[in-house]
Amino acid sequence: MSIKAAKRREDYLPPDFTVDHIDLKIVLAADATSVSAVLQVTRIGSHERPLCLDGEQLTLKSVEVDGIAWTDYQLSETALTINGVPDSFVLSTVVEIAPAHNTSLEGLYLSDGAFCTQCEAEGFRKITYFLDRPDVLSMYDVTITAPQDEYPQLLSNGNKLASGHNDDGTHWVKWQDPHRKPCYLFALVAGDFDLLTDEFTTQSGRVVALELYVDKGKLNRGQHALDSLKRAMRWDEEVFGLEYDLDVYMIVAVDFFNMGAMENKGLNVFNSKFVLADSETATDDDYFNIESVIAHEYFHNWTGNRVTCRDWFQLSLKEGLTVFRDQIFSETFNSPLATRIKQVKVIREHQFAEDAGPMSHPIRPDEVIEMNNFYTVTVYDKGAEVIRMLWTLLTPEGFKRGMRFYFDRHDGQAVTCDDFVNAMQDANDIDLSLFKRWYGQSGTPRISIAQHGDKLTIGQHTPATADQASKQALLIPLQLEMVPSNGQGESVQLTVALKSETQEVLLPVSSGNRVLSVNSGFSAPVIVEQQASLAELGSILSFAKSDFDRWEASQALFKQAMLANMEGDASVINETAQLMAQFITAEQRNLALLSEVLIPPSVESLVAGLEQVNVDALLNSHKAVYKRVAIECAPMLEKLLAALVLRDEYAYTPEQIVQRKALNTLLKLYSQCQDTSDMLTTLFTNADNMTDTLTALQAAQLGNQSTFESLMQQFEERWQDDPLVLDKWFALHATTERPDILARLQLLMEHKQYTLKNPNRIRAILGSFAFYNTAGLHLSDGSGYRFFTDHLLAIDPVNPQVAARIVTPLLSWRKFDSDRQDKIKFHLTRILDNPQISSDLFEKVSKSLAQ
Ligand code: TRP
Ligand code: ZN
Repeated sequence: MSIKAAKRREDYLPPDFTVDHIDLKIVLAADATSVSAVLQVTRIGSHERPLCLDGEQLTLKSVEVDGIAWTDYQLSETALTINGVPDSFVLSTVVEIAPAHNTSLEGLYLSDGAFCTQCEAEGFRKITYFLDRPDVLSMYDVTITAPQDEYPQLLSNGNKLASGHNDDGTHWVKWQDPHRKPCYLFALVAGDFDLLTDEFTTQSGRVVALELYVDKGKLNRGQHALDSLKRAMRWDEEVFGLEYDLDVYMIVAVDFFNMGAMENKGLNVFNSKFVLADSETATDDDYFNIESVIAHEYFHNWTGNRVTCRDWFQLSLKEGLTVFRDQIFSETFNSPLATRIKQVKVIREHQFAEDAGPMSHPIRPDEVIEMNNFYTVTVYDKGAEVIRMLWTLLTPEGFKRGMRFYFDRHDGQAVTCDDFVNAMQDANDIDLSLFKRWYGQSGTPRISIAQHGDKLTIGQHTPATADQASKQALLIPLQLEMVPSNGQGESVQLTVALKSETQEVLLPVSSGNRVLSVNSGFSAPVIVEQQASLAELGSILSFAKSDFDRWEASQALFKQAMLANMEGDASVINETAQLMAQFITAEQRNLALLSEVLIPPSVESLVAGLEQVNVDALLNSHKAVYKRVAIECAPMLEKLLAALVLRDEYAYTPEQIVQRKALNTLLKLYSQCQDTSDMLTTLFTNADNMTDTLTALQAAQLGNQSTFESLMQQFEERWQDDPLVLDKWFALHATTERPDILARLQLLMEHKQYTLKNPNRIRAILGSFAFYNTAGLHLSDGSGYRFFTDHLLAIDPVNPQVAARIVTPLLSWRKFDSDRQDKIKFHLTRILDNPQISSDLFEKVSKSLAQ
């Protein structure tokens, strides 16, 4: 492998040629698939340059221009350059590829015997020679041929035009997609699936066939996904007036997939983890995630497919916007509080860390080596927060007006993030030029507040990041809640549009006897520097109107107690424990809030928020505070738990979801101070759903090792043949704090269900370990780093995308003590010294070492 050259956003040039139409004929065979492509090519502008097509790992068989065999071309590892072509012509190529040997899961590959494709971002070039860039939009005709009995279902984008049988036992199907699309949205699936079908009638009365393809025998696990799809289709019509535009919508669930799912036009391909669910095997969180990913991919049909990206630097154009759309969809059909908390946790735990580390980049990056490395929490989740700020600034009505205008202006085009903001601006008669800085500036802004009577001086400042030395002021809609400190009187909410480094704000009511809750509802993806006192946090926790702000106060309290305890200050811990105990007594009927407030911030989120970390002290302090709070709350916990363990038969209803969540939170807390073995064993044995089963295991994992071991063994016996369920077990083992964790991981990787070819298994064991077992990864003798690095080196040649994703926790080595720094650097250097290193790992590791 050779390392790719970096590409810069500034260097964008429109393509020299475009392809108006492509006719693909694909004859499938595991070792030698033949791909014939007939392209209608047109020169753009007047120039004499040759046609340069992308292509990788293809065996070229023939080239013809306008039906004449062509020899005037050059072939390299990554391109086919055809010289002397006319302004408009037909190019025919034939290539051969080997899907059975494709372990990268990009291009055409085999997943458990079924053929499938993944083309985003730049995988189409592994299927045929093409202009593999999103601003080349073409019409597709696709004919697939394969053995009939092994692959009875042959799928591609659009509508089925014709099909037939051949004498050699193969059959064929021809598909036509009536919409122009970039090649990253091409998809092909061939296999033998069970099929779940339904119908959806659009608001204009068209009937759409819905088809869900799953592994044989898994039909009864598909209903929730199908129901979620119908909810998403209806919601997009009602909220944004957007209707589906084909006669059929297909979803295929596959076991081998690098990410969550892919929005290929009319033919989504999903990681089976985000499709399959029933009460026995899936948790409430799984149900939530399935609904959200199904909606996300569906929403891409407009935000991504009908209007697509001009170039890959614009990825947030479709991802930030589509994540925002799936977020407000989820807030509608689930608890808005729990949903918003999930989102904010992702930002705090992962995005702030990314922005503070060597991979820091704006939501619209400026420089990329491997595009697959930029499907990040910054582009996706910070991108969604940026869209949310527009929603706040423009109001929902203004935002929706902007969306309508965006589609009127840009339907069928490949556009930029600026085009999107311009559409929002032009539809709303507002100047968003300052707001656009969010797209180009990386880093997390810090907000400072100084109060003088009823006047605030609010400052904003973004520290330098690895990629950008100097920063500018941003347009930040900052929401504030003035909470009555003793609970007497109404809260007052205000939104301030910050525009400069410092700004004065006159409070609308007297600040006497009021506490400020700053960045209420997480109105902007910023860090508020002002340290509230324990008493102030106590007031917000008790009296804020916004439940989200009450949760924020609880997290700040836990964090202050944990940090103070590390410094040997025990007074904060006592006061925090008392505030929590008061809270649980006062709010004993508010299970929704209790179940969030009594979860302390994770060790990992604390690490993310600190510039320097003493790992050992932090781990100890985290445990001490958690336990101290548990002791203080114990009598109330006993009382509440007694009521929670007795419940009706399982149902996926809002009431029951809250009860199960509360049981989880309270039982984990209670297990810090009491021997809960009997309770947990009973819960585990009687559980009629996966959520409660996992609650028993998680509480045991934190509290009682022998109970944990015995329940885990029973779980494994029950689920050893179901890899998707077993991933929960792998992850629990991998996140357990124990001295012999590496030996345990080694054993897990010898399990019959483990294979380094399946990304879900790798993520469940090594991903969970690296991201969520801080104690294990950072073992002081460096053995955790060595173990993890050895496996990264083994995964990289098989699946570089996955290797580069899970390397992330090593990149922030600067946070740790100097001994750990040296050890991590040693292992990162080991990765970089590998002559076979992928571009994916190279980009991240080299940046980390250079920083
Ligand atoms: N566009 C997909 C989504 O967010 C992301 C995706 C799926 C992807 N598979 C991928 C990105 C493989 C890169 C590589 O919905
Ligand atoms: Zn997406």
